[in-house]
Amino acid sequence: MSEIGIWLVGARGNIATTAMVGARAVASGVTDPTGMVTARKPCTELSLPDLDEFVFGGHDIRTGSVLESARRLSENNGTPSAATLSAVEDDLSAIDQRIRTGTALNCGTAVAEMADATPLEADRTVSEIVERIRDDYDEFRRANDLDAVVVVNVASTEPVPDDPERYDSIDAFERAVETDDRDLPASSLYAYAALAEGHPYANFTPSTGSALGGLRELAEREGVPHMGNDGKTGESLVKAALAPMFAGRNLRVRSWEGHNILGNTDGHVLEDDTNKEGKLASKGGILEGILDPPFHNRVRIDYTPSLDDWKTAWDYIHFEGFLDTEMTMQFTWEGSDSALAAPLVLDLVRLLVHADERGRAGLQRQLASFFKSPLDVDEHDLSRQFRRLSEYADKGATGEGEATTEATTD
Ligand SMILES: NC(=O)c1ccc[n+]([C@@H]2O[C@H](COP(=O)([O-])OP(=O)(O)OC[C@H]3O[C@@H](n4cnc5c(N)ncnc54)[C@H](O)[C@@H]3O)[C@@H](O)[C@H]2O)c1
Repeated sequence: MSEIGIWLVGARGNIATTAMVGARAVASGVTDPTGMVTARKPCTELSLPDLDEFVFGGHDIRTGSVLESARRLSENNGTPSAATLSAVEDDLSAIDQRIRTGTALNCGTAVAEMADATPLEADRTVSEIVERIRDDYDEFRRANDLDAVVVVNVASTEPVPDDPERYDSIDAFERAVETDDRDLPASSLYAYAALAEGHPYANFTPSTGSALGGLRELAEREGVPHMGNDGKTGESLVKAALAPMFAGRNLRVRSWEGHNILGNTDGHVLEDDTNKEGKLASKGGILEGILDPPFHNRVRIDYTPSLDDWKTAWDYIHFEGFLDTEMTMQFTWEGSDSALAAPLVLDLVRLLVHADERGRAGLQRQLASFFKSPLDVDEHDLSRQFRRLSEYADKGATGEGEATTEATTD
């Protein structure tokens, strides 16, 4: 049996913890894979790694343990259940041995205040930070005799960097690393280290990650698949399904107000306006890509501590039909943030391993349906994005179209 390493940046957070609990619980038969896209057709036709092949490790900037995070989630939110948690407790304790302290460079004050471990940047140059992260990945791979390592960013959302265009080539990015450019965001250092080591990479957050021009170029040059940004799990998923209905029926949306309230650490970090900026852009961008302008499009995100991991979204859509008739639609979405996100992290790992094994390099646009802001994809209609994944799965199942670099754009 092959062993696949999953390196989670933000390893003690809610999504990471739920992904680890879920993988072990599904692998041991304690629960079923409901919520995982790859557990249903057409992805079941593909040859994907099984969850019991997964070995977890990661970086965080907080101390504590995955087991403590899992217990807190279980007690405060009811997910995972006490029975599921007790079945995987030993596995979680073993994972803690494989978590290293990472960097919080340019992650903003909200994250810096949370960091109770000394982050790598405290006494290292940028180049030394990168070297250390590469060493951590490498040690993980060798110590666990892994056939492949996939790096997934599930760390807190960073502020949007100024002038990301200055890192538009591999040379520019590597020069910045060598000259100790301390404007580089942590997420891109983790992404660079992954791509340079040949590890597929997914960015589940709105942070910069591998979106910089220099890192996209690096992924192509090194033949490594990657994709991002920002997992599409709740309100934004519904928007991507619903907005095409208004567009298709030529109903003119005049206003779409989306108000999200959540009470977990993610919500706490997003209270800071600088950290919130990227998330708002990514949530708002879905409608811009589907509906005809002009329309009023606003997203709010507020921290409501007592809700913990239960995120509630209330959306109000004011639209116009035939004979200028004004109508409204409202919906409320109440979801367990981590239970929605974690299975998608496992899906992304399985699909990136599949792409990597077939020599696919660069951005994996067939994974667009997983993201709010899919890199280099203009198509935001959810059903069309799903179709693209189905086409990939159909081709992959027959062996057609393998070992190619995807060159198409939307
Ligand atoms: N839950 C969802 O449905 C969803 C959907 C899309 C995107 N996201 C994004 O996923 C991310 C994780 O969400 P979560 O609910 O697990 O948050 P969380 O706050 O529970 O976990 C984040 C973890 O990242 C760690 N961290 C922060 N900065 C770090 C750094 N630079 N290096 C290493 N570790 C770092 C924190 O200490 C924490 O343990 C957030 O950016 C969130 O916006 C979540």
